[in-house]
Amino acid sequence: MATFPERVFSGVQPTGNLHLGNYLGAIVKFVELQRSHECLYCVVDLHAITVPQKPEELKASIREVTAAFIACGVDPAAHAIFNQSQVSGHAELAWVFNCVARIGWLNRMTQFKEKAGKDRENASVGLYAYPCLMAADILLYKATHVPVGEDQKQHLELARDVAQKFNLDFSASIAANGFGDAFFPLPEPLIQGPATRVMSLRDGSKKMSKSDPSDYSRINLSDDADAIAQKVRKAKTDPEPLPGETAGLEGRPEADNLVGVYAALTGSTKADVLKTFGGGQFSAFKSALVDLAVAKLGPIGAEMKRLTADPGYIDGVLADGAARARMIADENMKAVKDVLGFVR
Ligand code: AMP
Ligand code: TRP
Repeated sequence: MATFPERVFSGVQPTGNLHLGNYLGAIVKFVELQRSHECLYCVVDLHAITVPQKPEELKASIREVTAAFIACGVDPAAHAIFNQSQVSGHAELAWVFNCVARIGWLNRMTQFKEKAGKDRENASVGLYAYPCLMAADILLYKATHVPVGEDQKQHLELARDVAQKFNLDFSASIAANGFGDAFFPLPEPLIQGPATRVMSLRDGSKKMSKSDPSDYSRINLSDDADAIAQKVRKAKTDPEPLPGETAGLEGRPEADNLVGVYAALTGSTKADVLKTFGGGQFSAFKSALVDLAVAKLGPIGAEMKRLTADPGYIDGVLADGAARARMIADENMKAVKDVLGFVR
């Protein structure tokens, strides 16, 4: 198959309460990848409205996620940071992909089942079709690498299936239009490291989530040092000392989670963390984790606060990012129209 230049794309929903899971599962990777790759980081507001949003809160959330990207270290001068609705190609290509993806594929999506809950008949059509929009986000830029948390793995597989089916269904037209044997790359998920699925601080069997009613279940990126310290101290644990090796974390979801968080925050591994803290009491480990979390996350919260106080600056970053994204998107969208046989 044709090779494509490496390009990174990822998205985060502006739905409030950005947390440690978003940071370690996704945003830390965004920051790392910008050194080696051309990256586009998108605040996916079209995804947010698949469930009801209050307009004023949505606007504040879009700016807050943008501020978080910058506060965490993404450089808006070097890479495009933008909100999805400013680049019309996302919605356009999503429609095309609605016609490529099969209903059977979408029926298998576990996130839809979780989010729609028991009242599936009453979920929005958008919530159901959401993976097609996500595929469009990525493929609009022919992105090859997508840093995400573990929960997005199935959606990434669907994006690959969509790319593959498009390449196959339109192979003759793709070749006739001079695009060789493949129009879209098959995007690769980047799901790596010790914290691809950060769990709730109150319940090690539940994912840390923006929508958990208990604020003690998560560390928000906007939390100040006191709040971070208190939440780590109150995090659920078990009465056993920490094991010396990772195998000893099995069946101990809370311990496993906190060790993973510590490892991710220091850029090490769970095995390294257990070399230092194995055999010791949980309280000593927790004190160290409090210090670490406050040192790493405290400044991010403070910087987010500073940035969100200047919405003019944030909106400028988004407008500039959108203009840069459009340069790629518009070109690719024209080519998609040619391949499909649309007159333009
Ligand atoms: P969302 O807030 O759903 O838009 O998620 C933004 C990014 O954060 C996605 O890449 C998710 O996979 C990732 N993410 C969300 N929650 C967690 C979690 N608890 N642990 C690890 N990654 C997460
Ligand atoms: N669906 C992702 C989430 O809920 C967000 C997202 C939308 C995304 N489009 C994307 C992530 C494209 C990576 C690539 O977390």
